[in-house]
Amino acid sequence: MLSRRGFVAGFAGLFIAGRRTGWAAAPPTAIIVYKSRSCGCCAKWVDHVKSQGFTPQVHDEENMDRLKDELGIPQDVRSCHTAVVGGYLIEGHVPAADIRQLLSDRPKAGGLAVPGMPAGTPGMAESESAVGDFEVLAFQADGSTRTFARH
Ligand code: CU
Ligand code: CU
Repeated sequence: MLSRRGFVAGFAGLFIAGRRTGWAAAPPTAIIVYKSRSCGCCAKWVDHVKSQGFTPQVHDEENMDRLKDELGIPQDVRSCHTAVVGGYLIEGHVPAADIRQLLSDRPKAGGLAVPGMPAGTPGMAESESAVGDFEVLAFQADGSTRTFARH
């Protein structure tokens, strides 16, 4: 269901593509996104990460609650979509720049979350200039959190 084989194959493909171009530009980063089919803000967030150099592999899920249970997203940080990148979980409308920061810092954490769906987040805000006034949390599997970024 989580299509790990597809994920690994995707990485292998990126590696080969990177070799061919000699890593001239920052390589695209594979990210798996789980969302419900009818979620409009999820699709907009997918566009956001795509525009920032990620290559989303999107899965429409019937039961997001069950998926979040399986992946271990703590109840208190839950939002609409859930993504997996570089061994981390990304919950909700997390800005692409924070995901990049996470992947370069590699802190000990389950992942990043923007709980709920704040109006000023990428995918929720009307425009780039309306992005702001929210926090990104780093969460642990036990549900504890700390502030990762303020916008
Ligand atoms: Cu949303
Ligand atoms: Cu969403």
